[in-house]
Formats: sequence, C-alpha cells, structure tokens
Amino acid sequence: MNRTASDVILAPSLLSVDWTRAGEQVSELERLGVEWLHFDAMDGHFVPNLSFGALFLKAMRRACNLHFDAHLMVANVADRLEEFLEAGAQSISVHAENQPHLHRLVHTVKDGGAMAGVVLNPATPLEVLDWILPDLDYVLIMSVNPGFGGQKFLPFSLSKIEQLARKRSETGLNFKIQVDGGVSPSNVGELVRAGVDIVVAGSAVFAPPKPLSETVGAMRAGIESAFQIQV
Ligand code: DX5
Ligand code: ZN
Repeated sequence: MNRTASDVILAPSLLSVDWTRAGEQVSELERLGVEWLHFDAMDGHFVPNLSFGALFLKAMRRACNLHFDAHLMVANVADRLEEFLEAGAQSISVHAENQPHLHRLVHTVKDGGAMAGVVLNPATPLEVLDWILPDLDYVLIMSVNPGFGGQKFLPFSLSKIEQLARKRSETGLNFKIQVDGGVSPSNVGELVRAGVDIVVAGSAVFAPPKPLSETVGAMRAGIESAFQIQV
C-alpha cells in the first residue's frame, strides 16, 4: 500500500522546548495535530550531556494525550526501562552501541506494552541489526552524534536510510524508520522519500520567535513535498 503524507509522524524533540512553558507548548502541539512527542533522556555518561528522566514524561502527561516516544541515551538502560514504562512511554528506543543484551532489552520493552526501537549512532553499521530486525517496531537512525540539539545533519545518513529501506523491502519486514538530528523543512522531504516514517525535530520546531503553528506548518509542508509528483 502506498504511503501518504498523513502516514508520516512528526515527533518534536522536547530537548528544545521553552522550559518555562513546557506544558503550554505541549498542549499547543497537540492542538496543531502533532502525533508524537520525542523525549531525549541523557545521563552525562553515554552522551556528554544531562537532560531529564522519566519524571518529565510524567509531568507532560498531565498536559496532553500525545504518544510519548522515549530515546534513552543512558548507560544503564536495563535499570531505567521500568520507570519510563511506568511514566507512560509508548515507544522506547535503546542504543545498539552500549547494549550487550539488546534482544533481552527489546523484549522487556515489548512485554511492558510499548513499541520497541533500536538506535544507531552515525558510525554504527546497519549490520548490527541483522538478527534483531524482525523483533523491532522501529529503527532510529541518528543523523548527528547524539547529545545536543541544533547540530548539523550528517549527509551520509541519507544513504544509510536508503539502505535500511532497501533492506526492509527485501526482507518484507514492516518496521518503521525514524530519523533524528538536524532535520529541517529543507531536508525532511528527501528523508521521507528515502523511507523515513517518523521525523524527529527539535530546533526546527522550537525556533522562537517563530510561533509553533508556523514551524510545525513548515515541517508538514516539507513532509508533503515528498509526495508531490516531480516534473
Ligand atoms: C540528539 C537528540 C535529538 C535532538 C534533535 O542527541 O537525540 O533528538 O534533540 O535536535 P535537532 O532537531 O535540533 O537536531
Ligand atoms: Zn532523540
């Protein structure tokens, strides 16, 4: 079945939210028809930055009913899953790079009732997914080195996404492809055309003084451009 623009999920990353107005901005995103919220949990060990933990998801749950997507950039993931599941994470992605027991983790996420994803850093080859791919709901391709918002998109990520999409059609699997890092209205179209289903964007969505209606509208227009007939 052919995809349409409305099948593509926009997932603003709250790392770039206005912290003094997080609840307000999240309810506005819900009014604007955004589908998911992306939560970047960073522990200062796996990545060189500290952000927030499961308590933040819990607080935001009081402000909206959106799908909560947790991206765990933490060293001791196994010890953290329970609290993110309890806080209402409906999808959880864990990095392949620091997980000797990826298969077990993925199944803990699924048994907890959430969608399970595996994240690959820019330098991590797709082959690490070979034996876990059938178990995954989604794969997150990092298009920047994780740790900070507002970085420049690494152009080779596009070929990586194309290869993953090829692998998906060759195997007949139906995991979703998510992209995260440096995504903007100007590159989102080609990413979606390459096979991306879930678009994470932080600094492109939270870009004061532009209102969220304008930045979300621009991201949506970029997504729609992927479906326009090229002449
Ligand atoms: C990076 C995070 C991203 C980040 C994206 O470590 O995983 O989700 O917030 O921010 P932008 O869209 O500004 O690159
Ligand atoms: Zn992220």
